[in-house]
Amino acid sequence: MKPDRFAIQSEQSGSMMYQEETMAQKYLIHIGNSGEDYTCDAELNLLRGMEVLGRRGIPVGCRGGGCGICKVAIQSGSYEARKMSRDCVSAEEEASGVVLACRVFPRGEMSLTVVGKMVKALERGVEKKGASLDAPVPAMPARPAN
Ligand code: FES
Repeated sequence: MKPDRFAIQSEQSGSMMYQEETMAQKYLIHIGNSGEDYTCDAELNLLRGMEVLGRRGIPVGCRGGGCGICKVAIQSGSYEARKMSRDCVSAEEEASGVVLACRVFPRGEMSLTVVGKMVKALERGVEKKGASLDAPVPAMPARPAN
């Protein structure tokens, strides 16, 4: 990502100067399986952004788009996907939002679920912490009969 340039006026000379903005854009990423959120720098892929924060959530493997462990399904949000192995993600899957987290860069707030080989381990970990992934949906109250 190319840094933005901002015009600022020098206090001493009154002339215009340009300063580069080096802070990269960050976006909120929501992991549906665990209910966790993290922020990911736009310059980092979804997996790396999570690792930089020392967070767990999306399973980590080769980090290069070759093993498929970090497969996720994007529910919402915009992103840039780089080339990924067709052995791991078919063209149909990719078109429907199933991608490899290590090959995807956020371009807005995103919501995703882990669907790769390690999803069961992730969900077991969440259940151990007390969160429930399969909590029953409360039934709608019955309508009173007229
Ligand atoms: S970590 Fe191996 S494909 Fe992403």
